[in-house]
Amino acid sequence: MAEITKKWYKEMSVYQIWTRSFCDSNGDGIGDLPGVYSKLDYIKSLGVDGIWFSPIYPSPNCDYGYDISDYKNINPEFGTLDDFKKILDAAHGLGMRVFMDLVVNHTSTEHMWFKEACKSKDNPYHDYYIWRKGRGNKPPNNWLSVFEGGAWEYNKNLDEYYLHVFAKGQPDLNMDNPKVREEVKSIMRFWLDMGVDGFREDVITFISKAEGLPNGFPLPLATGIEHYKHGPHLEEYLDEFRQVLNEYDCFAVGEGPMTGLKDAVNYCTEGPGQKLDMLISFDHMNADCFMADWVKLPFSLRRLKSTFDKWQTEMYGKGWNSLYIENHDHARIIERYGSIKFRVQSGKMLATMYMLQCGTPFIYQGQEIGMTNVRVDHVTEYKDVMTFNNYRLFKKLGFTEKMFLNLSFKVNRENARTPVQWTGGKNAGFTTADEAWFKINPNYTEINVEAAEKDENSLLNYYRKLIKFRKEHEVAVYGDFKQYYRSSGSLFVYERNYEGKKLLVINSFSENPVKFDAPAGIDLSAGELVLQNYEVLNPGKNSFMTKPYETRVYLFS
Ligand code: GLC
Ligand code: CA
Repeated sequence: MAEITKKWYKEMSVYQIWTRSFCDSNGDGIGDLPGVYSKLDYIKSLGVDGIWFSPIYPSPNCDYGYDISDYKNINPEFGTLDDFKKILDAAHGLGMRVFMDLVVNHTSTEHMWFKEACKSKDNPYHDYYIWRKGRGNKPPNNWLSVFEGGAWEYNKNLDEYYLHVFAKGQPDLNMDNPKVREEVKSIMRFWLDMGVDGFREDVITFISKAEGLPNGFPLPLATGIEHYKHGPHLEEYLDEFRQVLNEYDCFAVGEGPMTGLKDAVNYCTEGPGQKLDMLISFDHMNADCFMADWVKLPFSLRRLKSTFDKWQTEMYGKGWNSLYIENHDHARIIERYGSIKFRVQSGKMLATMYMLQCGTPFIYQGQEIGMTNVRVDHVTEYKDVMTFNNYRLFKKLGFTEKMFLNLSFKVNRENARTPVQWTGGKNAGFTTADEAWFKINPNYTEINVEAAEKDENSLLNYYRKLIKFRKEHEVAVYGDFKQYYRSSGSLFVYERNYEGKKLLVINSFSENPVKFDAPAGIDLSAGELVLQNYEVLNPGKNSFMTKPYETRVYLFS
């Protein structure tokens, strides 16, 4: 059996904060760092070992923080560097680590480097970005951005175009320039020296672009992606950054849109040449869509299971997986893979299903109370550049606003960005302002932290049990992964084994009863039922009909 090395980052669970919607301390309608500080005890009470902050640096917010204008400071909307240091110290005091989002594929157009770069071609910062001459009056190649139309923006003064794979306000850095790589390392050191414990590296697999920037295969968006999703120098640059990380006791998880399992294993394989500690994969987020969230398909459990199966078994003993089902880039998971009708039960099942696989679990704010998607009445209520771009594209396909809003309600990432629902009181306890910066889901009167705290059987309290269980049982962290009933369209059943201990995890993705038979060689009466989302009168029975979205975990020691 594959050898598994023990590491602190493998044992931890991490809570992700998207600060703008977390908690507002000063009544301006925008979540901020003192707001986070005020909730540290709550975060700790979940049992997590770390916090990952989505970007909290100064930013003009064309992509809500993912367009950074100063890498070594804090967004004044969120507070000051001192506010951050206060959180860092307090979190450490509570035994939690703190991770920053490192966004170095691109900066903001408001970054000093870019402003300098635009001044002249001789400016030392000019070569920090990717500039090309047009082809006549056409852009340098046919690439399209992920967010808004063409991937090139013309600068009249220089008579050159700059590349932006994302929004216009997010010019891509020229990572081939060694000075840029030195800047990246200096940013890493700045935060690591302050005491930060590692990074989530934003679209890090995009940082190296193909030689000559050839035309891409035409797609509705992101044309050209095959020329930068794993560019020629990516591994070299990751190695270079890794050397900095190696000077510290920290970890790095890389975001890798469109990164396949083979590349992921290559980046994450432990030992000399290891590039990343884990990768944020997108494969398992495609069980109800085709390539991108907006190309909606019916949910397929078989598709979900087969991707998990591959990532679990291929990575085991080589590298390490990150585990997540929600973040700021996807609609709420209960709406996608679970059931609103069985919100709490399906929420518990989904939590069990992913957190007991082999890897480091990430939990996104609001996920732990089962927050859901939000309906808006007009596209103008939205805030995100991606939404507006998709609206433009869908209108071309003949969508009315109403049709668009119906789709958006199911798939839009902004669904995950509504303010956290703390109480049933005014503005969900998120802000004392008259209005929050973005729509609060009207179901806050029912779904909120305060109510969940009072209910012993709430999803929140289930997350606490689950996180605690994982922490206390090495088999849940280090065990291997073996699936049963692979062809079932309603059950996801898997087993983990480690040093003589076994976990059997049974999950139903159906609201209808499904017959479960213990796999050959397993006697449920020999195990202990350690987690469940319904009362089970006879846990030792080897055959039973499942309840809607039932989950059960048996421990055999
Ligand atoms: C990542 C982020 C996403 C952002 C994009 C561009 O995918 O998670 O929120 O819009 O990168 O930085
Ligand atoms: Ca505020």
